[in-house]
Amino acid sequence: MIENNDPILVIGSSNYDIVLKTKKIPEAGETVMASGLITGFGGKGANQAMSISRIGGDVKLFTCLGDDVFGRLYLENLKKSGLNLDYIKVIKTSSTGIAVVNVDSSGRNNIVVFPGANDLLKPQLIMENLEEIFNFPIIIAQLEIPVSTIRTIAQQKSKKNIFVLNPSPVDLLEDYADILEKVDILLPNEIELSQLSGKRTGNLDEVKKAASTVLKTGVKNIVITMGDNGVMVINKNLEVYIQAEKIEAVDTEGAGDIFAGAFTYFYARTYDILKSSRFANKIAAISVTRYGAQNSIPTSEEISRIIKYFN
Ligand code: RIB
Repeated sequence: MIENNDPILVIGSSNYDIVLKTKKIPEAGETVMASGLITGFGGKGANQAMSISRIGGDVKLFTCLGDDVFGRLYLENLKKSGLNLDYIKVIKTSSTGIAVVNVDSSGRNNIVVFPGANDLLKPQLIMENLEEIFNFPIIIAQLEIPVSTIRTIAQQKSKKNIFVLNPSPVDLLEDYADILEKVDILLPNEIELSQLSGKRTGNLDEVKKAASTVLKTGVKNIVITMGDNGVMVINKNLEVYIQAEKIEAVDTEGAGDIFAGAFTYFYARTYDILKSSRFANKIAAISVTRYGAQNSIPTSEEISRIIKYFN
């Protein structure tokens, strides 16, 4: 039975997303024509916070927007959605983050992000709000804000804070060892796991080996999302594989964020890593059947159907 609903703080990015539907993802030097244009609200941090909020979690978002038309649209969107605005910082000197997303006809995508104000979510902002931030029992972050900020969160967290990190995107020039040591739950996809471990992750055996390399840094739990190859949950005592849901994917953009949001929501209620992974697997599967990031978060009706199944 679900009883808790512990408060969650999401620290991360907000981007205005420009999604282009194309037959194929262009190669370097190639021009392709798009058959559709969708604009929407994204950014891994905001996507995760919106998912948690839609599912019914107690969530606040710590993010930076620019002082421009995209920032104003974004703020309106946050207000309309009912998300708390206490930690939304509008940076006067900056533009809002922008992401250009190409989605091909089989639902695969690539994304280029201009970080804008997200780059100004600096360690100083964390240090200025230490008491409030570390009062949250659960903190989730991603890697679309400066790594120095993620490092500060890792250093400042106490044993009372569960630190969930979605390591996306991984900077191959960065050494994350000191951060990973403090992470309670790491939520990579198989590519990010490969980048963090320096190992191949082409099949389940390789994924397990790569995960055990990363576990040596001190990370307590790893939940690896592998798209239509399912989910793996690994820690020192556990190695569980969860099958992917059978669905027809049109766009996988934001699915990792919706998984991370749904996972963190369920974890804040149950502190059960396996049930949280199973729940998130079902919620994220719905999201890939539609276009966009926040546009593809399941509706309240869809969510309550799934929650009933887990009660
Ligand atoms: O994970 C999807 C997100 O990545 C998009 O919303 C885009 O803004 C980029 O941050």
